[in-house]
Amino acid sequence: MNELEAKIRIDELTAQLKSHNYRYYVLSQPVISDFEFDMLLKELESLEKLFPHLQHPDSPSIQVGGEITKTFVQVKHKYPMLSLGNTYSADELRDFDERVTKLAGKKVEYVCELKYDGLAISITYEKGKLLRAVTRGDGIQGDDVTNNVKTISSIPHQLAPGDYPDYFEIRGEIFMHKKTFERLNNKLREELIVKGFDDNEISEKLYKNPRNFASGTLKMQDSAEVANRPLDCFLYFVYAEVPVAETHEMALNKAASWGFPVGNHFKRCDSIEEILQFIERVDAERDQLSYDIDGIVIKVNNYQIQDELGFTAKTPRWAISYKYKAQSALTKLEEVTYQVGRTGAITPVANLTPVMLAGTTVKRASLYNADEIERLDLYECDAVYVEKGGEIIPKITGVDVSQRSPMANKITYAKHCPECGTELMRKSGEAVHYCPNDTGCKPQLIGKIEHFIGRKAMNIESLGSETVAGLYHKGIIKNYADLYELTYEMLIGLELETYQEKKETTAKRTLQEKSVLNILQGIELSKQVPFERVLFALGIRMVGETVAKKLAKHFVSLDKLMIASHDEISSIYEIGEKIAEQVVQFFASDKNKLICERLKRAGIQFELQAWESTGKTNKLEGKSFLVSGVFTISRDDLKQLIELHGGRNVGSISKSLSYLIAGDKMGPEKLKKASDLKIPLITEEEFMRMINE
Ligand code: IVH
Repeated sequence: MNELEAKIRIDELTAQLKSHNYRYYVLSQPVISDFEFDMLLKELESLEKLFPHLQHPDSPSIQVGGEITKTFVQVKHKYPMLSLGNTYSADELRDFDERVTKLAGKKVEYVCELKYDGLAISITYEKGKLLRAVTRGDGIQGDDVTNNVKTISSIPHQLAPGDYPDYFEIRGEIFMHKKTFERLNNKLREELIVKGFDDNEISEKLYKNPRNFASGTLKMQDSAEVANRPLDCFLYFVYAEVPVAETHEMALNKAASWGFPVGNHFKRCDSIEEILQFIERVDAERDQLSYDIDGIVIKVNNYQIQDELGFTAKTPRWAISYKYKAQSALTKLEEVTYQVGRTGAITPVANLTPVMLAGTTVKRASLYNADEIERLDLYECDAVYVEKGGEIIPKITGVDVSQRSPMANKITYAKHCPECGTELMRKSGEAVHYCPNDTGCKPQLIGKIEHFIGRKAMNIESLGSETVAGLYHKGIIKNYADLYELTYEMLIGLELETYQEKKETTAKRTLQEKSVLNILQGIELSKQVPFERVLFALGIRMVGETVAKKLAKHFVSLDKLMIASHDEISSIYEIGEKIAEQVVQFFASDKNKLICERLKRAGIQFELQAWESTGKTNKLEGKSFLVSGVFTISRDDLKQLIELHGGRNVGSISKSLSYLIAGDKMGPEKLKKASDLKIPLITEEEFMRMINE
């Protein structure tokens, strides 16, 4: 490679790695795996070695990845928080051992620990009392997240008397247990469904793995919300003026005796063979851990030798991490099928020859959209690698092209809806294809009725998704207005076929008197559901709960909304052009107009009740707010909203303040004072959520 080529590649890699760092550390939304990241970094490092003068002064090879967040008070680290050199190969570990042995002038002892997949934290204790907790940030300074860290039950706020120094810092990793992640992500999924997002939007918004969830949580401004998302922590390093022990192993045991969770999977090893055995054993058992790890950290045990070995610019010479590759398996692509969501959004799915991966059988992988199929350059019957890098849905990460038959055809994206045959559409600038046949495509019709009866919509619990599908297949209901014309005679004794997703089988069920009466009663009760929820239940694309509330308040009745212009709708605060377009389009359809007419005749609430239309609530009763900084709406409007919802505006920060609503460009002094008094900071968005939920 000549110098010009090297420059181009170094510039490109530097920019790419910076952007991946930003996505990982700041947004908690990485788009490539750790392995892919490390390979890019290695490529950059080797080019920089050949052409040192082309290295950027802020190259990701010499700078720790994270960034600090605007809304937290920033604290400079007493000892910089560095990163670790890493490797994926046993040979490089042997090289590390050789280097260490040579520099130390003798054989050394190591301690192997788990490399927890979370976020680094530094916690300071003074006279046994938790003083401050700070994230790694850019390695030099980080965010003060003390209030959030205090919600973690395994971290002591006050140590019992012990032989710890008056002032010390303890570092470790904050993470979320896999079970907690699954529970909370499923909850979030339900909330997003209720808010009207489609499958693709939901998979974008959900946290991809426990690490991202933990990171997103720790950066929240409202500690009360953090407490609802339980985090945990393992500590792995004590920093003090005078070392607390002679060896790392002894220091870990001491930290445990002071009441810190240090994990119980660390081991002292005397040789590289022992280290490799430890790595192998943990690899075989790591699925059974309740949390994710992404490797093993190997540290020189003796602190004096650690000191002698010292640091490079970014990493210690006395430690290295061995990273496990994300678990992957090779299998065959049998077919690409297409799922149609309630809103008509199409999700391509790879159907695979079943294969065991990380303890479960994988049969399908999401392909997200046409761009992803293009990126993977998939052909029929390809041998594909599937990976489960801490993510719930497995994904295809690559193709073994050497196994591809020369006769194989490239996968072309479906042109027509697999359910109704209508030509698919893709709006310019959007990744997702849609089936536009929203009034005749089966999964869309069933999905709309299911949404209509949902808990946060018309709440017809007695019906349930399976019964809806069964009634649809019998031809008894075709849309949600048909529900209000169901009678006892139509339902009693009806034999319904229901599909059981878990077992992937269908079962038969006969409607008995009790269920029929329950269903009819549920439908009758739904006539009392307030207008804003009815509006949400209609299932207009992009009209989730919050938008429905805004529309209901503005227009007061469905009749007015039905004839509203695009301009009037989009002039409402936080209702954009795209939403307005969807609303106008929905009511332009004669079929939808007719359905609404029938609902109205059935006695559904199509108007706001008098008390609702004033917009007053008592959601903020007893709470005081201070508004500071620049927002997307004027400060006066924000204050009016606080009063409208029963809250109180105050002019200065005091201990009794309930919330500080922090906007852009808010002064650092206010931030500091609020942080000292432990006043929860919330963003404009979080405030809006408070009054709209
Ligand atoms: S020791 C000088 N030990 O891995 C760096 N780090 O890639 C000392 N990590 O920033 C770090 N488990 O966030 C250490 N047992 C462990 C670890 C661990 C996870 C993280 C930590 C660090 C990153 C380095």
